[in-house]
Amino acid sequence: MALNRLLVTGAAGFIGSNFAHYWHRHYPQSRLIILDALTYAGNRANLTDLLAHPQVDLVEGNICDRTLVARLLKEYAIDTLVHFAAESHVDRSILGPEAFVQTNVVGTFTLLEAFRTHWQDQGKPEQLRFLHVSTDEVYGSLGPNDPAFSETTPYAPNSPYSASKAGSDHLARAYYHTYGLPTLITNCSNNYGPYHFPEKLIPLMCVNMLLGKPLPIYGDGQNIRDWLFVEDHCSALDAVLRGAAPGETYNIGGEAEVKNIDLVNLLCDLMNDLAPDLPIRPTQELITYVTDRPGHDRRYAMDISKIQADLGWQPSVTLEDGLKKTVTWYLEHRDWWMPLLSEEYQHYYKQIYEYP
Ligand code: NAD
Ligand code: DAU
Repeated sequence: MALNRLLVTGAAGFIGSNFAHYWHRHYPQSRLIILDALTYAGNRANLTDLLAHPQVDLVEGNICDRTLVARLLKEYAIDTLVHFAAESHVDRSILGPEAFVQTNVVGTFTLLEAFRTHWQDQGKPEQLRFLHVSTDEVYGSLGPNDPAFSETTPYAPNSPYSASKAGSDHLARAYYHTYGLPTLITNCSNNYGPYHFPEKLIPLMCVNMLLGKPLPIYGDGQNIRDWLFVEDHCSALDAVLRGAAPGETYNIGGEAEVKNIDLVNLLCDLMNDLAPDLPIRPTQELITYVTDRPGHDRRYAMDISKIQADLGWQPSVTLEDGLKKTVTWYLEHRDWWMPLLSEEYQHYYKQIYEYP
């Protein structure tokens, strides 16, 4: 297994930047080339300390740029591509699906094609890997008593976001079956932790509590998600890169299913305890039910027995500990999230929350 020279796409975003920090901490000798278009979700500040290290470089560019991708693969003699770059927010995919098809489907296709050429040009070495990072949302929605999603659950994506991720998963799978390209696919549940852009539920709630703004709960608040602390996702990807056979797919999850309203109440309790001064206390007073997300999936749950059995991975951070770390991080990093509440963000916010 090589794993010495990584091209990591989308690592100026939430999970990718956590992965870059994780990887550099565990394998400081590894070369890390980050390719990121720095969209609204990409942020150099997520990588500041890492970029000071000579082993880590950030290239600003688009994964749909085949010439650029081919050049990076060759110039840096990449042996492992870890693909995080995506349009990742369901609500934005409902407002404007086109960017999701471009980046998630066409971008993944472009990377696969460039990587196939790179692999073929070297005589198809066995140790190269293309890890495609995907989501549990490709499996659709569960009823309250349905068994959790397994790797053999049929795909049934319901949003433009999940449909575009499903398309990219199918391409990664097909490149293994057709060409023998050593691809790996992971499907993970909802992540949370540091550097999470404040459009997603947990960081949005933390930021709004600190600003004394309403905490918008979609529909009846009874939708269920399975939450995984981002550091545990990174260790799962590490286990997959080191131990999985080419062509394999693994589900990753936190075994921590919670209803949205219960999760928000937990966050409120933590913030009430941890924040020295708050505009509104208790923060539960800010909870506001708003119009539901169109096509809102009711429940996600992951069966993680395959990764546990094959690779010995399991989540290590409890929901209670992970949420406490996360709330503390948002409390201590106002300088990180304040600049993100830009004019573009306010425009987006109005579209989602003020025009039902
Ligand atoms: P994010 O939105 O925080 O980050 C995405 C990154 O990709 C940003 O840095 C952005 O600038 C970059 N990017 C977007 N379009 C690009 C393009 N065309 N070319 C190059 N870079 C581009 O996303 P995230 O939450 O960190 O998710 C990362 C990956 O993990 C995604 O593929 C997502 O589908 C998957 N995933 C996310 C979760 C979750 O809970 N956040 C769970 C499971 C899987
Ligand atoms: O399941 C994995 C997926 O998790 C990833 O593939 C996506 O990239 C990631 O964005 C996330 O998708 P969700 O739609 O589950 O996450 P989000 O944080 O947007 O919403 C979580 C739940 O909270 C969902 O049921 C919708 C609800 N919600 C969300 C927001 C932003 C609210 O009730 N109010 C809100 O303001």
